[in-house]
Amino acid sequence: MKKMLVLLAIAAFVASTALVAVADNGPTTIKLEARMGTVTFPHAKHQALTDCKTCHHAGVEAGACRSCHGVKADAPKAKKVFHKLCKSCHKKQNGPTKCKGCHVK
Ligand code: HEC
Ligand code: HEC
Ligand code: HEC
Ligand code: HEC
Repeated sequence: MKKMLVLLAIAAFVASTALVAVADNGPTTIKLEARMGTVTFPHAKHQALTDCKTCHHAGVEAGACRSCHGVKADAPKAKKVFHKLCKSCHKKQNGPTKCKGCHVK
């Protein structure tokens, strides 16, 4: 009986670490460098506030926003899209909207 429990515990542990490895939620915090001052973006905290798709409109597998925005001709500049997306929600839900609420030198 004891052996059985130990085996079950090991199986549960293996299953849970496998799940963590499969779901790539990206970094917990992301530093978005800007001349205005670095934006320290609490990524994990925002994942609890809304769906991935709210921000990753091209799909999570499409990669970093800045692999298109500011790089590809058909994608609007990073500053424009970040300000639009981030500030519009912050206005509604009480996130920071002042420059220094996001940009810290
Ligand atoms: C509030 C907006 C927002 C939400 C919600 C969000 N992300 Fe992100 N995510 C970002 C931003 C911004 C970056 C940084 C992109 C960059 O560096 O250009 C990022 C980066 C990532 C990266 C790293 C990409 C790379 O190649 O560097 C992964 C992986 C990722 N997110 C997965 C997820 C998953 C999975 C979810 C949902 C569970 C999620 N994100 C929810 C905004 C968000
Ligand atoms: C594969 C390339 C690609 C990736 C990756 C990507 N985008 Fe975009 N994005 C585009 C293109 C192209 C457009 C313009 C056409 C459209 O609206 O679909 C756009 C439009 C937008 C818009 C609307 C802009 C407007 O003026 O209405 C926002 C906001 C936005 N992106 C934010 C993000 C964020 C935040 C990320 C990362 C979490 C991201 N995008 C990742 C290519 C990309
Ligand atoms: C769906 C709504 C939503 C979107 C989209 C969103 N945020 Fe937020 N954000 C919030 C809310 C709500 C808070 C306040 C959270 C709190 O006080 O616990 C917040 C807080 C913050 C903070 C303050 C730090 C903290 O820990 O409270 C920063 C910095 C921030 N957001 C940056 C960003 C950036 C950069 C983007 C765009 C890439 C973004 N947010 C997009 C809802 C959003
Ligand atoms: C909700 C968070 C947020 C707020 C509020 C905000 N910004 Fe930004 N800003 C960003 C993010 C994220 C970027 C993109 C950084 C990147 O491209 O890596 C950015 C980019 C910029 C850039 C271009 C990049 C650079 O090198 O400086 C300028 C200029 C800028 N912001 C000015 C402002 C000003 C002025 C205000 C106040 C009126 C402001 N921002 C408010 C998040 C914010």
